[in-house]
Amino acid sequence: MVKKSDIPRLEVFSLNTEINKKNHLAIGGCDTLDLVKKFGTPLYVYDENDLRSRCREYKAEFGKRYPNVTIAYSPKAFTAKAMLKLVQEEGLDLDIVTGGELGIAKIVGFPMERIHFSNSNKSVEDLEMSVKYGLGHIGVDNLPELDMLIKIAGKKKVKILLRLNPGVDPHTHKYNTTGIADSKFGLTRTTWDQAVATALAAPNLDLDGFHFHLGSGLFEAEPYFKAMDAVLSYAAEIKKKRGYNMKTLSIGGGIGIQYTVGKVPPPFSYFAEKITTYLKKKCTDFGLTPPRLIIEPGRSIVAKGGISLYTIGVIKEIPGIRTYASTDGGISDNIRYAMYGEFARQEAVIANKVSAKNTDKYTIYGKLCESGDVLIKDIMLPKLAMGDILVMAGSGAYAVPMQSNYNSMLRPAIVFVKDGKARLIRRRETLDDLIRRDSD
Ligand SMILES: Cc1ncc(COP(=O)(O)O)c(C=O)c1O
Repeated sequence: MVKKSDIPRLEVFSLNTEINKKNHLAIGGCDTLDLVKKFGTPLYVYDENDLRSRCREYKAEFGKRYPNVTIAYSPKAFTAKAMLKLVQEEGLDLDIVTGGELGIAKIVGFPMERIHFSNSNKSVEDLEMSVKYGLGHIGVDNLPELDMLIKIAGKKKVKILLRLNPGVDPHTHKYNTTGIADSKFGLTRTTWDQAVATALAAPNLDLDGFHFHLGSGLFEAEPYFKAMDAVLSYAAEIKKKRGYNMKTLSIGGGIGIQYTVGKVPPPFSYFAEKITTYLKKKCTDFGLTPPRLIIEPGRSIVAKGGISLYTIGVIKEIPGIRTYASTDGGISDNIRYAMYGEFARQEAVIANKVSAKNTDKYTIYGKLCESGDVLIKDIMLPKLAMGDILVMAGSGAYAVPMQSNYNSMLRPAIVFVKDGKARLIRRRETLDDLIRRDSD
């Protein structure tokens, strides 16, 4: 019988992935072909125990090295009521970016004091809602927002973090890079002093500390060091100048995950060790009291726990050029490859041929009217036939939240699996959903 370890590609799938007795791919104890029979394709499946174990690993690895730490899950990577509930049960906070995410958190009863809100262009409504609900922090991104918030907060006292742009390149995809000077995010270095002065002078603001976020998909700790250097040296400067003590430092998210065979990032323990050691040392060097540390992981909590399943349709061989294999989904359910190219490459297997040899090269595309509707370019797979079930690994982050109805595609169902049981956490869209907001 074929074992998981015989198939190198399976190392990038979720923790509870196996080949079952029928020689099919199974996740969370559920045969993927049974899931397809029950829920159809395209289908997103999340391994609940995988998601929970990553939440726990973050808490344990950072918590044992730096007790005053908060892990705030970033739901932009994957937002669903069931996911927010899971995060709440695991004792994580939330790092949100829109009023929409805040609204969903409110609906699931997420404690508002455990929510931190950062965005570069919050609306009046976003700020009003944040003040009304009493969020843990409003992350103020720029000077106009600071002025708006002072007006909106009125007589209420609001806890804020100032998002400082540290001008650091995290060596990731340019679309995922947020902490370089040439970025819409965060206060430019030349405005830090003005922002701090304004915040400290406002009786209705409680400046709790600073925030930065460098980018997504980081494989090294050095960019965090550089950003901490910039922010901590500034905190030391204003401690001297103004007697202000920074109480909280949020270093954003960004820790990368393994999407492809052989490209393995360091484990969470590595980042925890490097970041907390550096933070403690720099606080000693700069004469600062070690702050509460907030980390905002998104991708690294949900990416590996999620897979996407498609039914293979038309296969078109262009002799000497390429063989295209179509799926019943595409960029409407996963736009990552179209947006980021090879940076967003994902592995795949065929659920019903999981132990067969990868003999043929295919480009996997979708059913949308775009030549850029590609899910995976040039991947070796067993010889494909219509009706085969393609399973993509690492679909858990930034696929579901970026889905669209382009070409009037219906967005897929989402299932959570655990210990051999599957529960539908989002039903497949229907035609009614597509026209619900239209009028004649
Ligand atoms: C402010 C902020 N925090 C956290 C994250 C999550 O990053 P990641 O999913 O790479 O962990 C993002 C992602 O863009 C972000 O903008």
